[in-house]
Amino acid sequence: MNAPVSIDVLKQHLIDPEICIRCNTCEETCPIDAITHDENNYVVKADTCNGCMACVPPCPTGAIDNWRTLLRADAYGVDEQLTWDVLPTQGAVPAATVATENAEAGDVIEPGPQTDTVRGSTVPPWSAAKPYVNLYTHKAPTTATVVGNYRLTDATTDSAIHHIVLDFGATPFPVLEGQSIGILPPGVSADGRVHHARQYSIASPRDGERPGYNNVSLTVKRVVQDHDGNATAGVCSNYLCDLKKGDVVNVIGPFGGTFLMPNHPNSHLLMICTGTGSAPMRAMTEYRRRRRLKGATGKLMLFFGARTKEELPYFGPLTNLPKDFIDTNLAFSRTPKQPKRYVQDAMRERAPDVAQLLKDDNTHIYVCGLKGMEDGVLQALKEIAEGQGLDWDVLWQRLRKEGRLHLETY
Ligand code: FAD
Ligand code: A2P
Repeated sequence: MNAPVSIDVLKQHLIDPEICIRCNTCEETCPIDAITHDENNYVVKADTCNGCMACVPPCPTGAIDNWRTLLRADAYGVDEQLTWDVLPTQGAVPAATVATENAEAGDVIEPGPQTDTVRGSTVPPWSAAKPYVNLYTHKAPTTATVVGNYRLTDATTDSAIHHIVLDFGATPFPVLEGQSIGILPPGVSADGRVHHARQYSIASPRDGERPGYNNVSLTVKRVVQDHDGNATAGVCSNYLCDLKKGDVVNVIGPFGGTFLMPNHPNSHLLMICTGTGSAPMRAMTEYRRRRRLKGATGKLMLFFGARTKEELPYFGPLTNLPKDFIDTNLAFSRTPKQPKRYVQDAMRERAPDVAQLLKDDNTHIYVCGLKGMEDGVLQALKEIAEGQGLDWDVLWQRLRKEGRLHLETY
């Protein structure tokens, strides 16, 4: 599809810096390390990219889907791309080829085919509603007003996770559960460039945090340490957690065309999350709760991990949900005098019930939260499947291809 058209002419794969939200999905997905980044941009190495398209469907914004046809000798180098603020325009095309156009604002994204190089699905569930993406971009963001900002985690704990409600007033901002938005924090970084957008999963259902209102909620963890445990003040998370009612924020998005819930009321949701990874699970659960249909057979099973119960966002509301509506399993890793427990441990304890869901073609699996949990959760699913005589490799491929295994870790 993207093969060079001749020895001398290249259809060069580029990433639009104005749309890219620097989420790293493309770099993680690329099977041949053709994508790299610096503080400023994500870029594609022209001499490595073979046009396999593996990175295109998973990109939540469509920024990845840009092509310029030019002489191979004139290909844009990595260093040059890293300095770009906008994509160069297509010059005179040297051969009879047509570049793929990037998604336009307001387009309904049609996800591409499932590729074999990613662990999760790159297609949505068959019954998912069609999402809107990129209605608002870096170049043309919209604004939302803060109508609520509450700390969810106990004040005595180190981890501050906030529930933030943003209202769009009369501005159209249609979203689906599982999608995310981008927040543009004010100010500039050390090199004088404006801060790039940070992505946050939507924690409310499609009809609003408050039903019938044009608002969304987010679940934001205040980053006070980097991944190595060194003290730092995360730019956007601190900005968000400090917002007051009435403050106005710049927003882009919505993003995401695959991590979506099935609309089919008989579909089962197996949800596995840690920390703020609970945001999309809350959105999906609340959507299902609001439209509980008589006679529907869809089950909800949740595995949710946190350090302690005091650090588990939405602990109160979650544990109040009726047991016949959702099967909730909590795993705490730092409860004093208790052994460390992760979500995958809780899944193994419930192996027969998880296996029952794995055997059912109506089951859709969602994993969201810490990057580190992905391996452990997939390993647990494999063991549970194989313990029940299922061939995990076959099942895994089917789940992926049928839009029934969705992974979003960060
Ligand atoms: P930065 O200023 O960007 O980073 C400061 C330092 O902290 C850097 O060294 C960085 O490497 C490190 N760092 C970045 N993130 C973390 C982290 N989470 N834990 C520890 N160290 C970190 N975040 C949420 O709180 N809620 C969400 O629902 C959510 N959804 C996301 C969905 C997707 C698809 C993705 C890709 C990310 C999501 N994030 C979410 C993470 C979010 O986009 C930001 O990366 C995070 O808030 C940190 O941004 P910052 O500007 O505060 O930190
Ligand atoms: P831990 O106590 O080992 O850090 P956080 O609070 O950092 O967002 O983490 C949420 C939960 O995820 C914590 O209980 C954390 O445990 C747990 N966790 C950490 N690593 C993994 C992993 N590899 N798999 C599953 N859970 C994990």
